[in-house]
Amino acid sequence: MCGIVGYIGKRKAWPVLFKGLERLEYRGYDSAGIALLQNGAFSVYKKKGRVVELSKFTKNQNQLSGGVGIAHTRWATHGVPSDRNAHPHLSSGGDIVIVHNGIIENYLSIKKILVGKGYRFKSDTDTEVLANLIEDIKKHTKVEIDEVVRLALAQVSGAYAILVLSKDEPGTMVVAKVGSPVVIGIGKKEFFVASDATPIIEHTKKVIYLEDGQMATIKNSKLLIKTIKNKTIKNPYVHTLKTKIEELEKGGFPLFMLKEIFEQPKSLADTMRGRIVLDKGNVKFGGLEKFEKQLRSINRLTITAMGTARFTGLIGEYAFEELAGIPTKVEYGSEFAYREAAVDENTGLLAISQSGETKDTLNAIKEAKKKGMLTLGIVNVIGSSIAREVDAGIYNHVGPETAVASTKASTSQALLQIMLAIYLGRMRFARGLSKSKAKGILKEMQKLPALAEMILKSANNIKKLAKKYKNYNNFFFLGRKYNVAAAMEGALKLKECSYIHVEGMNSTELKHGPISLIDKNFPTLIIAPIDSMYEKNKSSIQEIKARGGPVIAITSLGNKELENITDDVIYIPKTLEMLTPILAFIPMQLLAYYIAVERGNDVDKPRNLAKSVTVE
Ligand code: F6R
Repeated sequence: MCGIVGYIGKRKAWPVLFKGLERLEYRGYDSAGIALLQNGAFSVYKKKGRVVELSKFTKNQNQLSGGVGIAHTRWATHGVPSDRNAHPHLSSGGDIVIVHNGIIENYLSIKKILVGKGYRFKSDTDTEVLANLIEDIKKHTKVEIDEVVRLALAQVSGAYAILVLSKDEPGTMVVAKVGSPVVIGIGKKEFFVASDATPIIEHTKKVIYLEDGQMATIKNSKLLIKTIKNKTIKNPYVHTLKTKIEELEKGGFPLFMLKEIFEQPKSLADTMRGRIVLDKGNVKFGGLEKFEKQLRSINRLTITAMGTARFTGLIGEYAFEELAGIPTKVEYGSEFAYREAAVDENTGLLAISQSGETKDTLNAIKEAKKKGMLTLGIVNVIGSSIAREVDAGIYNHVGPETAVASTKASTSQALLQIMLAIYLGRMRFARGLSKSKAKGILKEMQKLPALAEMILKSANNIKKLAKKYKNYNNFFFLGRKYNVAAAMEGALKLKECSYIHVEGMNSTELKHGPISLIDKNFPTLIIAPIDSMYEKNKSSIQEIKARGGPVIAITSLGNKELENITDDVIYIPKTLEMLTPILAFIPMQLLAYYIAVERGNDVDKPRNLAKSVTVE
């Protein structure tokens, strides 16, 4: 979590850093700060709250004239959100200023030594300890700042992306990375550094992604990359960014979440673009072509992810078993990384992540590699840590997702897993998938963008429902088979955006305990399309109504029956059973969005959250 930005070059640093922080605010937003090097000393401007709070400092423009600076937007790990704990952090003597994304695990033992040497600390953060450690080494050695930082890093354990400036070397910025992402943008005699490429895109398309264990020194308009162990990296790979700046803007919508919900007809089409080979009843993925032999030998699959991405994995689990006959299990990345899972080299690992930076998922991939497993990824952010860590992968291609609550990435994740299940099913002869069955599914799949469009046309009906249900304190979200996952995801969406307590589960599970909570103040949303589970879902509805609970049903267009036994009905177009969750996600996203707006919440940035969770 946390976002860092740095600028060194001929422009004024403040506007570049401020705009960069706004782009990275999704990574954390409990405090923000900017440090500028001005007339041989550091000026640090920081404040609890959102990035916009920093604009209070811009009244005196002269104050903000420096051409070198670093900035940070925070998601608290050590120390409460406050002005004091906000980054950047200065060392005691004011020689060093630093911003940091990550956690220094051994900071307490280092702090103890520094306190013994007379250092005083103004914050509760691990970062200030690193600033003072760097200053201390600088005092006792005669080497340049990049070497000082390298020596300091040899003493710390944990995860970090850091930017360091030294007041005695005004033309130098030091960057280092272990476990947290960092990208360096290369301009004309200027450099931009950030946690991801979004603050850089409007300035340059040429970027270098630092690898774990690497550090960069930007000095006199030159960039030198080496490892923290001191090995020079010659000719680092320079990527060309493809994202367009308009993709990062709201495009006429009041909030990013609504924009991203409405982008789904396009994002679903983009997910499939160039990948469906209808006449062969198959799917092709460029990123998997070289791995066909290993993929054929996979006889079990572990899906690993967190949050929304994990819920889409539950859809994948059913699809891999149904279409490819591959026994599949879904694991929290955080658990797989630490428990003794019974896997072998014929078990494939599929990691799913929008950001490609989720630490728990990344840890699971590293563990799987140790166990000799083939690791695959479904990732949205190109060049992200997970995308680079896995052996082979598939990109969602849905463009940047900015709202903290995942929407367009989640429908794409579910869709890609069903496509992958078809791909694997078609290559397996024993329990494989016939061409005609695959063709039938693919044809239905191709209709999804148009069906999503139909749902979005009825957004106003959901807006009305939001007004009706906004004041309830609890909800159940229910579904069966593929829609258990949809119910769980719908529940997460509503709880994280609206701060209402919501539980998502299998409709049948209700009567094994949770039904005791049902009364007139406890509504239930049930996903009950016309499918193999329809009659069972109808029984669940009756059971809830018999206990006085209000019911909203999501059912298939044209099925009027539920209007008689529920309080409200949301219609989604008919499709195959395995594709219904992709459509069912959409009205639940809209409901979460509109209820949260009704309740006056900051929908794009719900409290206590951050979009990419780069800490364990
Ligand atoms: C909820 C949400 C989160 C993420 C989770 C994993 O709306 O977005 O639950 O799904 O933090 O993030 P990624 O997909 O970036 O690994």
